[in-house]
Amino acid sequence: MAQAALKRSAAEAALAYIEPRLGPKTVVGVGTGSTADCFIDALAAVKHKFDAAVSSSEASAERLRGQGVAVIDLNAAPSVAVYVDGADEVDPGRCLTKGGGGALTREKIVAASADEFVCIVDDSKLVARLGSFPLPVEVVPMARGLVARALVGLGGEPEWRQGFTTDNGNLILDVHGLDIADPPALEREINNIVGVVCNGLFAANRADLVLVAGTDGVRQL
Ligand code: 5RP
Repeated sequence: MAQAALKRSAAEAALAYIEPRLGPKTVVGVGTGSTADCFIDALAAVKHKFDAAVSSSEASAERLRGQGVAVIDLNAAPSVAVYVDGADEVDPGRCLTKGGGGALTREKIVAASADEFVCIVDDSKLVARLGSFPLPVEVVPMARGLVARALVGLGGEPEWRQGFTTDNGNLILDVHGLDIADPPALEREINNIVGVVCNGLFAANRADLVLVAGTDGVRQL
């Protein structure tokens, strides 16, 4: 099965998982990327069953509105029942690398706000250890050099994502070659570099459930 079809399968499995949890006051958190787009398209079919969505990016907010789903500001949401999003890598402990689409900061904020984080991936995203996918780090523009030097000190090779600005007006350094033996420790260490807004390791806010689509169906991790 092609990767696009697997992404749709994972998204449909997420919809089946969350549908019994929806009610007139439910707010659903929505991620960013091609797999999250599949989820948005599936979610549209049940838009009458929940109150509103909170989005992790301007792009997803636009797609949600295009599907007739109400989008509210996170600060207006009394709670977020569930957050559904894709990932770039998933390890066996449900730690993730995210941010391939550059939305990592808002993704982490909505994930941290949600009662449950459901990650949806095709099985190409499963890894024994995080680190093959370069780790995205969102950085305040004036701190680019300072942060890049600190990341080199951690053993990484940062690459400035050219021509890209995040929804928050910042830039992304994609860090190659990091040894991610301890995702929670590295997540904390990178967050402590002055000028870093957020990094794409989701270990403190790892997924509660990963729905993995493969050619033989969708399994839970
Ligand atoms: C965006 C993300 C995405 O979830 C991640 O890049 C996966 O994208 P896709 O579903 O297109 O493979 O973190 O910032």
